[in-house]
Amino acid sequence: MNGVDRPHIIRKSPWDEARRALAGLPGGGLNIAHEAVDRHAAGPRASRVALRWLGMDETRRDITYGELAALSNRFANVYRSLGVAKGDAVIVLCGRIPELYAAVLGGLKCGAVVSPLFAAFGPEPLQTRINLGHGKVLVTTEALYERKVKKIAGAMPTLAHVLKVDSGEARTMIDAASERFEIERTSPDDPSFLHFTSGTTGMPKGAQHVHGAAVMHYATGTVALDLHDEDIFWCTADPGWITGTSYGIVAPLLHGVTSVVDEAEFDAERWYAILEAEKVSVWYTAPTAIRMLMKAGAEVAKRRAYPSLRFIASVGEPLNPEAVWWGMDAFGMPIHDNWWQTETGGIMIANTAAMDVKPGSMGKPLPGVEAAIAHRDAKGIRWVEAPDEQGELVLRAGWPSMFRGYLDQEERYRKCFAQGWYFTGDLARRDADGYYWFVGRADDVIKSAGHLIGPFEVESALMEHPAVAQAGVIGKPDPMLGEMVKAFVELKPGNEPSEELRLSILGHARKRLGAAVAPKEIAFATALPRTRSGKIMRRLLKARELGLPEGDTSTLEEGA
Ligand code: WT7
Repeated sequence: MNGVDRPHIIRKSPWDEARRALAGLPGGGLNIAHEAVDRHAAGPRASRVALRWLGMDETRRDITYGELAALSNRFANVYRSLGVAKGDAVIVLCGRIPELYAAVLGGLKCGAVVSPLFAAFGPEPLQTRINLGHGKVLVTTEALYERKVKKIAGAMPTLAHVLKVDSGEARTMIDAASERFEIERTSPDDPSFLHFTSGTTGMPKGAQHVHGAAVMHYATGTVALDLHDEDIFWCTADPGWITGTSYGIVAPLLHGVTSVVDEAEFDAERWYAILEAEKVSVWYTAPTAIRMLMKAGAEVAKRRAYPSLRFIASVGEPLNPEAVWWGMDAFGMPIHDNWWQTETGGIMIANTAAMDVKPGSMGKPLPGVEAAIAHRDAKGIRWVEAPDEQGELVLRAGWPSMFRGYLDQEERYRKCFAQGWYFTGDLARRDADGYYWFVGRADDVIKSAGHLIGPFEVESALMEHPAVAQAGVIGKPDPMLGEMVKAFVELKPGNEPSEELRLSILGHARKRLGAAVAPKEIAFATALPRTRSGKIMRRLLKARELGLPEGDTSTLEEGA
């Protein structure tokens, strides 16, 4: 059996230190919101700024740990008054406004399963996720409700209440609610977050997480993000994606530091101004954003000074070595790439502050994380011991933030594991020094601007256009986005390809899916390559698009 990456495990649990740092609920149990907020609100950190909120316009608002405890208690009381019980699903669909944070933390306090959704999703992905997640209460804003939810309002049977946080009605409820709340006695194995992630086939999967993940979020905050007591931390991810909850909400609050929240979208000038003016000391961002900053030029960065900045990390897609070096040029420090997934709940492999960065590598498994490279087929697992040989990245199951299921899809969950190892679906290799290098994904899932997009969901929406018979969707390499969503469509008889029709299909997709998910390019195809059993061969579409060898086409339907 494989014996790599093991020296730091077994002897003593590496999570012990993080476990000791957490308080636990008075009387027993563990609840993320208690560890993240109430624990600090009850002590000397009560008046420390938890969230420094920067509004779209120039408004700003500081929310202390004490205030966040009170506001999240109000939300918890409102949920209770709406009948939310332990295990019920609270869906949060808000832009990055202060209420989002209180709504999420309040839900955790109730023992609810909290699922934050990305506000740039269109009605279709929202409806799919709210239904898959059995959403009971939806927290949103009046504007988002009008734009996205209204048209699907009748199609979400489990939804009992919609709380529009900026409406008069919700304001009255929140203001009238008590600032005190007794947190539901959750255990480390009780569900906390539900985060949707996309696969190759079928609808998204709801990855179920637990309160015990706090141990991992605390530990990785220390070891992978180098958080220290006085830090000002900025995670640029939206809480609609797991990075934005694990590291945009939970980890910094667990550490009692100040977390910057910017409501606005990416803007190079604005981001540099935030880094400087807010004295950000630890910054967690993503390759697409870094590439966009690089495009604006290092001179733009150098017009300002960042004496407080100490550590920069990146996640979500491969970080090109040039980006690591650019960090040296623009900020005088390298950018530390790290790797994880929705399923892992927290950072697993990283270039830490204590390590020499290898530009282009994701780093090494963190203490307590056991990683390996393996091949799996019908005959079993073959472990890759040799350096630099590519295979699937696998992780020894059992780390504290490991997902505990795909909601209602037990079989799919089971298939991710074999012999006590979790199979990530990523291809990677490990070099002789123990650093891991990302090679690619083993499936057809698209990574665009750091967001995982399932081709099936896009194809389904395209096929609802009256002129479209079939659609095949791929990720096409893009210098900024990593990959961009490209669709090939086959038209129904009686329709002719035209620019007008292309725009009509594009418009349809944007309206249904939202700008974050809709294809950026659409091409007409006379016959999409299909297997004899009728499945669109996305792999072949991609090879043809890129002018690469077509590989094994033995299952291809005649003449396609
Ligand atoms: C997939 C997970 C990152 C956590 C939140 C997003 C890709 C992630 C890296 C990296 C190359 C990376 C993988 C992974 N990925 N980090 N440092 N280098 N690829 O989680 O949406 O579930 O995406 O993102 O393919 O499996 P996610």
